[in-house]
Amino acid sequence: MEKKITVLPGDGIGPEVVASAVSVLQSVGKRYHHTFHIAYGAIGGSAIDQHNDPLPQETIALCEQSDAILLGAVGGPKWDQNPAELRPEKGLLRIRKHFDLFSNLRPVQAIPSLLKASPLKEDIVKDVDLLIVRELTGGLYFGEPRQRTEKAALDTLVYTRFEIERIVDSAFQLARVRRGKLTSVDKANVLESSRLWRQIVDEKKAGYPDVEVEHSLVDSTAMKLITNPAAYDVVVTENMFGDILSDEASVITGSLGVLPSASIRSDNFGLYEPVHGSAPEIAGLGIANPAATILSVAMMLKYSFGLNEEAAEIERAVAAVFEDGYFTGDLATPGSRVLTTAEWTEKVINEL
Ligand code: NAI
Ligand code: MG
Repeated sequence: MEKKITVLPGDGIGPEVVASAVSVLQSVGKRYHHTFHIAYGAIGGSAIDQHNDPLPQETIALCEQSDAILLGAVGGPKWDQNPAELRPEKGLLRIRKHFDLFSNLRPVQAIPSLLKASPLKEDIVKDVDLLIVRELTGGLYFGEPRQRTEKAALDTLVYTRFEIERIVDSAFQLARVRRGKLTSVDKANVLESSRLWRQIVDEKKAGYPDVEVEHSLVDSTAMKLITNPAAYDVVVTENMFGDILSDEASVITGSLGVLPSASIRSDNFGLYEPVHGSAPEIAGLGIANPAATILSVAMMLKYSFGLNEEAAEIERAVAAVFEDGYFTGDLATPGSRVLTTAEWTEKVINEL
């Protein structure tokens, strides 16, 4: 297989973790006889510095010519006082919208050798294997009109049937290749948009007889995600609920440094990035944990290219290196061996 990938390193530790992930990708390519052509583009703060634009036209053009995008992270104190259009995060929002990446996937899976890093009891965490599917390009964050005066402020929550149908379909399809369980999260006791959401999930059910569906209100889901996270398989929800629940879910396993994400659309084109940010306070020190970005590459292989075996091999190698007791500083506990970003990446590559 031959694929073109645009790599957007971004700011802070972005370039360091992306370099690791690209070397793992190339190593998998060699081993399985695939050719991955890599092109580099600018996004975020570094793009503002070079082009006065967090998402320059050149970057969009590069991404349009490729099969998938790998992103590091954006942001840092240097740009915190910039006006809204010249903030690093604006580059992220614009790229998701430009490419219509409506489906945001965040898997959360217990890694046996990392259970102690969780703030929850080991018993609660040990069987966690869930996937949050968040609608990413609609809802309250994009609704018009929006307005603010000194006396009142207005945001608009709109969902079209088209927007709900495509995210619900993608969640059903993901559930049927996992454990066949789908939890649809809404606030149908209060919101009209949630009532339409629930109606559409019920309409779609017949098309996926192999998937067991439950509806769950967002407030009680927030509780159950902490008390019994192992009960979930695929969780699908709208943009704002998904934003909040996916951040909540990210602390279940207790290690931000190992969580990957994907933002994809119906033709499987997608953007892959770690859940964490640019960690400016450790940037340039060569100590960042590259696992989240390496696992994001595994998601790319699986969801954009259909290379399931190669993806599973990366996941296995990462888990094996942890199992052998090698960690970067963020996950170190007394007795574990602490490696730099480059050393830890080398262990993964040797394991492949
Ligand atoms: P952060 O995720 O960058 O850092 C949170 C904490 O986790 C810090 O202590 C950091 O050192 C640590 N950490 C994060 N990733 C790590 C890794 N791979 N290895 C080792 N330690 C790691 O979030 P924070 O501090 O809230 O934000 C820092 C900057 O990143 C801000 O400018 C923020 O806007 C931006 N950000 C960007 C995101 C993105 O590009 N998708 C997402 C979240 C924040
Ligand atoms: Mg968030």
